[in-house]
Amino acid sequence: MHSMISDKPALAAQQRPFGAPAHVGVIMDGNGRWAASRGLPRLEGHRRGLEALRGAVRAAIDFGLDYLTVYSFSMENWSRPMQEVADLMGLLKRFIRHDLSDLDKANVKIRVIGRRDDLQEDIRTLLVEAEEATSANTGLNLVVAFNYGARQEIAAAARALAEDVAAGRVKACDIDETLFAQRLDTAGIPDPDLIIRTSGEKRLSNFLMWQAAYSEFVFLPMHWPDFDRKAFAAALAEFGSRERRFGGVTPAVEAGKART
Ligand code: FPP
Repeated sequence: MHSMISDKPALAAQQRPFGAPAHVGVIMDGNGRWAASRGLPRLEGHRRGLEALRGAVRAAIDFGLDYLTVYSFSMENWSRPMQEVADLMGLLKRFIRHDLSDLDKANVKIRVIGRRDDLQEDIRTLLVEAEEATSANTGLNLVVAFNYGARQEIAAAARALAEDVAAGRVKACDIDETLFAQRLDTAGIPDPDLIIRTSGEKRLSNFLMWQAAYSEFVFLPMHWPDFDRKAFAAALAEFGSRERRFGGVTPAVEAGKART
């Protein structure tokens, strides 16, 4: 699917305006409310949510982002009615089957994070296919968080490290943030600079808890199906206006130019 001499669009990182984020995480909330407010079934909200996801991926490419991580199914979502769970699984399948070749042509590299063991065999196969088919791509990294939960991810990393220590592969005193991060699903992926959540809720809901230590947050009142390129651009502009200090001081304070 991919040749070494690529005719695919190169990563537009150099087009990224100064101050724009490299990695954006998105909590796609509000599909159900979008549907309910129109008297439509929840599935219609999720279908429209998938359309909004397609638009967000196209916009992320155009905006020159390196990574877009989308929260598509949380471990807690299993507690929804069986039919809704089946609908969401169906939409994931549709997304991969229908969009994989377009994503590949757009030089998108897909990576899936989350627990695979609980998923149906056909879905697991599709996820591996999507990752393998796009593994050589060099454009936008689309990280799909599916059956993902941050606490479970962190517990699994602790378990893996405990096993390494028990087997003598790792010394307990060598465990630090870097080594720990290498055992997370997101190993090798830079932390998100910005996390966007739609639908007015202001919480993380078990999404990228370790990785969000220094992320900026933008909460939008609109429901996810209404999230469009304009809303995405506005969130990036809001991010650009924020000052990130990572626990330090501003360069101006450091240089003694500011009072506090
Ligand atoms: C939140 O809306 C959204 C989800 C639980 C799933 C996100 C799914 C999509 C955007 C479409 C499908 C795409 C894939 C790849 C599976 P909600 O149902 O929690 O909305 P509510 O809070 O208003 O009920």
